[in-house]
Amino acid sequence: MNIIGFVGSPHKSGNTAWTVQAILDGAASEGANTHLFSSAELDIKPCAGCGGCRNDGGCVLKDDMQNIYAALKTADALVFGSPVYMAQMTAQAKAFTDRLYAQISPRFSPTFKEENAGKKLVVAWTQGNPDGGKFKAYLDYTAQMFALLEFEVQESVIVAGTRAGHASEQEGLAERLKNVGAALVK
Ligand SMILES: Cc1cc2nc3c(=O)[nH]c(=O)nc-3n(C[C@H](O)[C@H](O)[C@H](O)COP(=O)(O)O)c2cc1C
Repeated sequence: MNIIGFVGSPHKSGNTAWTVQAILDGAASEGANTHLFSSAELDIKPCAGCGGCRNDGGCVLKDDMQNIYAALKTADALVFGSPVYMAQMTAQAKAFTDRLYAQISPRFSPTFKEENAGKKLVVAWTQGNPDGGKFKAYLDYTAQMFALLEFEVQESVIVAGTRAGHASEQEGLAERLKNVGAALVK
């Protein structure tokens, strides 16, 4: 099983990277092959809205998103992570989701399912606010957006309260995230 992680944070070793990696580690412990893509290290431009992808050649922006398109084709699951910025996903995460447009047909059916049909998804959020229900409406909406793209949404994980310290310091969280990753494989 191939599982890719995407981290839409500007921090390479921040709360979200640690969270997504912990989920991937849980999946790897059950035998999955995993690979993490971090926007902190990648050049992923915003969608130009040029329509070039409608000419069958895929996205015309030749940046690091091309590697993610290739990985998505053979992935069985995606772990998508973003910090909450201004009650929403980050600009980096939004660039990623907008760029998925190049891989969907005009009817919004994803072409990245052609090689590997069922794609599971875990959405992982981190937020400074300690109230994990604070942004529920937006987080639910985002899960619905992924469902529209025909991902099988397994779970939305919310790591709240990072204002008080790095996510890795939260008691029991590593184990909880490991179980989320393992459940993706089982
Ligand atoms: C520009 C900006 C906006 C933020 N907006 C929110 C917010 O609306 N709600 C919240 O709970 N935390 C907010 N935060 C805190 C981040 O969500 C939190 O620190 C997160 O865990 C950072 O993840 P990272 O370490 O992976 O970058 C914001 C942080 C920044 C820098």
